[in-house]
Order: sequence, then structure tokens, then C-alpha cells
Amino acid sequence: MTTIIDGKQVAASVIDAVKSAARELEQDAGVKTGLAVVIVGDDPASHAYVSSKSRMAKECGFTSIQHTLPEETTQEELAALVQTLNADDTIHGILVQLPLPKHLNSEPIIQSILPEKDVDGLHVVNAGKLATGDLDGGLISCTPAGAMVLVRGIHGDDLSGLNAVVIGRSNLFGKPMAALLVNANATVTTAHSRTKDLAAVCRNADILVAAVGRPEMVKADWVKPGATVIDVGINRVLAPEKGEGKSRLVGDVAFEECAKVAGAITPVPGGVGPMTIAMLMANTVIAAYRKSG
Ligand code: GUN
Repeated sequence: MTTIIDGKQVAASVIDAVKSAARELEQDAGVKTGLAVVIVGDDPASHAYVSSKSRMAKECGFTSIQHTLPEETTQEELAALVQTLNADDTIHGILVQLPLPKHLNSEPIIQSILPEKDVDGLHVVNAGKLATGDLDGGLISCTPAGAMVLVRGIHGDDLSGLNAVVIGRSNLFGKPMAALLVNANATVTTAHSRTKDLAAVCRNADILVAAVGRPEMVKADWVKPGATVIDVGINRVLAPEKGEGKSRLVGDVAFEECAKVAGAITPVPGGVGPMTIAMLMANTVIAAYRKSG
């Protein structure tokens, strides 16, 4: 029987722990955890993500601040907002939603966030700590951290002897995911668009993680029987069967056919997605604890 990994349920237990931690911090140290989320422009998908992040922060008992800036915001204006948030002692986590509009350069903005407030784990200091195996000192990018919680739920903490393949090499996901897996003793391959015979590489994976942004690209014959498949893709595709102009969400994995081969698999939606927000909340309360003590 294939295990369908219930990311919603795991995320809910992470959120419960975050709520207790936030409550304790407020009662014992008088510190209310604060998260600031910044969004620039009108991208509807980004707005949907940001509202659910802000809403969840409130639900966790945090101070939740959302800065919605117009499309024509300049680099200087955005940089100035980050400086204000860096200096604000009531804010423990800062998240600038990506992608930014094309005229803005995201890299200097991300690197200007104080590393201890970088709850996205994208600052070079946090990426460097992860790369050097300092998992407790920094902040880890939320989606890979969440995906890793799901992997641990299946395989435990020690992945010795297991082959893991991560498709995708972004700073936001692929690179930190590979670092987490190798730190847990997996033998890790990072595959990407230039990889030769991707299907054969994937078939070698005991843990296959797909983050390519291509709807249902991973097929059943890419999956080793019994493997754990973690689908990080969220793609909106047309669904004429639901009516004209209707759409549905699919991952990077062809779920129905791969579920027949895999030992465990995450659905889309309801797999990795809910974990991202849960880990963002966890990072924020961790940042608040570190600041207070
Ligand atoms: N856009 C899509 N995913 C993310 C994320 O995890 N963090 C930020 N800042 N932007 C994103």
C-alpha cells in the first residue's frame, strides 16, 4: 500500500507547537513574536500566498504586519523599508515575497535583511551555515525544511545508505534541500535541466524530490518501486473537464500513475505546500526566542 503523505496534518502539528512556543515566550519573557511580510506589485498568486502567511501568523498569536507596495516601487524605497524593519525590535522575521517585479533587483534586498530576521533562510549567512552543517545556528529555507520533516516522517532522522535525487537547483529550494539530505547521511544527486537521461537518474532514487515547475513531468517509469516521492511543484493547468476556463493545481509529479509505484508520495495540494507556511511560522518563533535569550 502506498502511503499518501498528509502534509496538512503534519503542518497542523507544527503549527500547534508554534502556538504553544509563542504563548510561552509572551507569558515568560513578555515578547510577542512579530512577522513582517513585504509584497511588491499585483501578482495574484503571490498575493494569495502572502495573505495566507499573514493570516497564519495572526492565528499563531504573532504580531503580523503586511506591507503591500505598488508595482512602481523603486529599489531605494524597498531597501529603505527593509532597513526600517531591521531596526524594529517588535519584528523578529522579515519575508520579502519573490519574485519581485522585473525592474527590482532581489539579491541586494535579500542580503540586506539581518540574517537573524531572515526567516526565508536566503541570506548568505544562513545558506552558508546550512552548507557547512550548522543546522541549529541559522534559519533554514522553509520549503526544504518542511519537505525534510515529511521525509523524516517516512525514513527517520538517519538516511544512511539511501539515494536521494533532487530535481532542481534553485537557492530557494534545490540547493538547501540537497544540503539537508546530505547532512542526514543520504547519498545525494542534484539533477536539473542539463542532466543527461534524467529518467534513469531518478529511477535510482530511494527519495525523489521534484522541484522543477513543470506540470506532471515525473512519470511512473521514473520512480523506483517503493521510493518516497516528494512533489514540490505547484502548477495551475487548464481543466476543461471542470468546465470552460476552469483550472486545477498539479505538481511536478504525475500523481495517479506515480502513486502506483511509489512507497510514499505527497499529493498536490495538501503535501509540501502547507509545510512551507508552518516552517515559516516555526522560523519566526525561533528567531524571536533567540532575540529574547
Ligand atoms: N515565492 C515562492 N515561494 C517563496 C518563498 O518561500 N519565499 C519567498 N520570499 N518568496 C517565495
